[in-house]
Amino acid sequence: MTDHNESPASTFSPIRWGASGLELLDQTRLPREETWLDCRLPGDVAGAIRRLSVRGAPAIGVTAAYGLVVGLQSGDEDHDLRERFEETWELLAATRPTAVNLRWALDQGREVFERHADSGREAATTALLEWAHGLHAADIEANRRLGAHGATLFTRGDRVLTHCNTGALATAGYGTALGVIQSSWADGKLGMVWVDETRPLLQGARLTTWELERLGIPYRLVTDSSAGSLMSRELVDRIVVGADRIAANGDTANKIGTYTVAVLANRHGVPFYVAAPLSTIDRDTPTGSEIPIEERDPGEVTEVFGTTIAPGEAAAANFAFDVTPHELITAIITDAGVLEPPFEESIARAFAAR
Ligand code: MRU
Repeated sequence: MTDHNESPASTFSPIRWGASGLELLDQTRLPREETWLDCRLPGDVAGAIRRLSVRGAPAIGVTAAYGLVVGLQSGDEDHDLRERFEETWELLAATRPTAVNLRWALDQGREVFERHADSGREAATTALLEWAHGLHAADIEANRRLGAHGATLFTRGDRVLTHCNTGALATAGYGTALGVIQSSWADGKLGMVWVDETRPLLQGARLTTWELERLGIPYRLVTDSSAGSLMSRELVDRIVVGADRIAANGDTANKIGTYTVAVLANRHGVPFYVAAPLSTIDRDTPTGSEIPIEERDPGEVTEVFGTTIAPGEAAAANFAFDVTPHELITAIITDAGVLEPPFEESIARAFAAR
């Protein structure tokens, strides 16, 4: 059983449970500063998810799990326990719509709460914290398995392009697409990584480079619009990206710009892999058309780090994710193995075998 005072992560994690509760590495300040946020109230957790202090589908799910514990701990004694739980649940569920790991974790949390609510606040809080630690550790394990499966697809010297940030920072630890990259590097197969900067919030430029530096993996940072040119010059051997939600037919929502890369990969015959744990596959969403796409503040497009780069009256649209249709995806790398098309069938088989 996990000691409920300690996070279980033996690997680097952007989420930790310390003596005073939930702490999150503030990713909005990376790479300039490494600052940890203390989250004492459910609003602190929800705010951190909304403004992307913690981000990446699996990391959002694990943070929400701990957020439910924060909710129960921070309520005053007179506050009805169920009411407190539901308020926290709703607050967290409303933070970001696309990453299915959020809802996946919250639904599980509700089941755990229901099983222990009648035993009182302390018992329910302890049970939820043990469950959250379990989820934290399980995500790291799933990512390590996923990384090992993905590395089998690589051949010596591969130059790999990736989009957004999918490393330890985006998960409970180790990473998904960046976990595959890390495993391939450890196996001596990886040549180097092309890192898309990932406008507008620059998760690639700020976070993926930060992680690759720490891992000692060679990379070159490129503008998002470089992908086509790199592929046409035969400088990319494979592409691996993460996912925020994979529909039952394999259609995949991921950071805006992923679809563009997939179309270019198809044009140039470059294998295009999606790497995600089974917790990111949403079998209740039949196709990509039903995946809700988050639309964020247009100011994130018209400004860069507080500096306005467009005329004051400029109208902007800021869709945070796009959907890559399943026919553009070569394989989906999961903790249960490498899934191949037709994905509807391989996904169903992977879940049946769990
Ligand atoms: O808006 P973000 O930074 O949360 O978007 C993150 C992504 O799109 C990642 O590729 C995805 O969540 C997979 S993270 C392992």
